[in-house]
Amino acid sequence: MSRSYYIAGNWKMHKTRSESAELARALVDQLKDGKHTYLAAPSFTSLETVGAIVKGTNIRLGAQDCACEEQGAHTGEVSVLQLKDLGVQTIILGHSERRHTYKEDDALINKKVKLALQYGFEVILCIGELLEEREAGKVEAVCETQTVKGLEGVTAAEMANVVIAYEPVWAIGTGKTATPEDAEAVHAFVRKVLARLYGAELAEKVLIQYGGSVKPENAAQLMAKENIDGALVGGASLKPETFVPIAKFV
Ligand code: PGA
Repeated sequence: MSRSYYIAGNWKMHKTRSESAELARALVDQLKDGKHTYLAAPSFTSLETVGAIVKGTNIRLGAQDCACEEQGAHTGEVSVLQLKDLGVQTIILGHSERRHTYKEDDALINKKVKLALQYGFEVILCIGELLEEREAGKVEAVCETQTVKGLEGVTAAEMANVVIAYEPVWAIGTGKTATPEDAEAVHAFVRKVLARLYGAELAEKVLIQYGGSVKPENAAQLMAKENIDGALVGGASLKPETFVPIAKFV
């Protein structure tokens, strides 16, 4: 299997510019011999600062969201044009905090996905079930719907720039991680959905990250699973002491 590993840090709404710069500098230094692909996704306000530090290194620059339109009367939103201008390479879309706290639905997320791809960004499309959906036996149905609807109208060629992140909502920021076996089962299922949409050959190439309380202690066991190709890390991405061991899990 030729898929590579991709470890992303989602800094969420943390850190001022100077704090972001400090973390970015430490990551550049400590990951320079890292073997995998890395991403730092700071707040919009720190993108320019972090972008200048990670430029030309093995750490990509990511944004945590974008608007669904290129420009216009959208108070408080940030557009793909503005993100391009800052050197952003990747946009995280459909994060569960966007879905559940800010009520983004699959149609809105799909619009953002298509716009971001059209502008040449890599997209990390987040999917994942709530605890009550897991308890009701709806994990596959939820992940299938979010994948299919999120990717509606995305071409096979554009899929080269799509990463999926499976993030069970009950595991995000709670300290509860899906067991490697539970996560692997969902990842394998999502790959089957991708195979149905785009064919098996393409589906084999798509990176599927796991997210939800990834820590230095559990990263290696998760990454050892066949269909887990990396991690989207929240809390543990805020300090080099916890992100670097995850990023260098082997
Ligand atoms: P967590 O967040 O690692 O703090 O659980 C993951 C995420 O929301 O991407």
